[in-house]
Amino acid sequence: MKRIAVLVSGGGTNLQALIDAEKNGIIKNGNISLVISNVKGAYALERARMNGIASAVVLKKECGSQEAFEQNIIALLREHEIDLIVLAGFMSILSEEFTKAFPHRIINVHPSLIPSFCGKGFYGLHVHEKALEYGVKVTGATVHFVNEIPDGGEIILQRAVEVKEGDTPESLQKRVMVEAEWNILPEAVSLFCQDRLTVENNIVHIGE
Ligand code: GAR
Repeated sequence: MKRIAVLVSGGGTNLQALIDAEKNGIIKNGNISLVISNVKGAYALERARMNGIASAVVLKKECGSQEAFEQNIIALLREHEIDLIVLAGFMSILSEEFTKAFPHRIINVHPSLIPSFCGKGFYGLHVHEKALEYGVKVTGATVHFVNEIPDGGEIILQRAVEVKEGDTPESLQKRVMVEAEWNILPEAVSLFCQDRLTVENNIVHIGE
């Protein structure tokens, strides 16, 4: 069984999708063992509590520096013997030192079809505002490995979602979550936990 840590900052609907997927057997060979939030009072923490999952809050402000913040997180990951780190609405960019410490062991869900609407400054609702402003007719979500480039790691899974006439950033965000994120994130986690992902020349291959 691979031990999974989920890093969150907000409501944690993607965390909930992972918890449900573990319960329903969609996540094979994986166990959500730890939830870490960089925001005090994030509802995701409540979801962890209700499901008996260990949780911790690490505040950058209290740590004093990015380095100390990340060292605190790393200490927790080591203490809980974590194999896979999932960024599920974690709104803090991790340094190169951090990402290099866990090569191909960190995955992120992003609410667009990368390489559109991604990188620094593209997070949460803002991504959908930009997609609507641009006028794209199709958007979606991406699950990818995390490296030192924001949203720049190898793509694991993507799913397209239709933009509809009259969409608001909120209605589009909801559709992208329901139709894409909440499905492809658990699927990608399950593939990782079964050792079915390999990376060759920046391309992720999915094995049997
Ligand atoms: C999700 O839409 C996730 O894809 C996005 O934030 C939302 C978090 O919702 N993440 C990013 O934009 C990361 N760049 P949640 O807390 O309900 O899972």
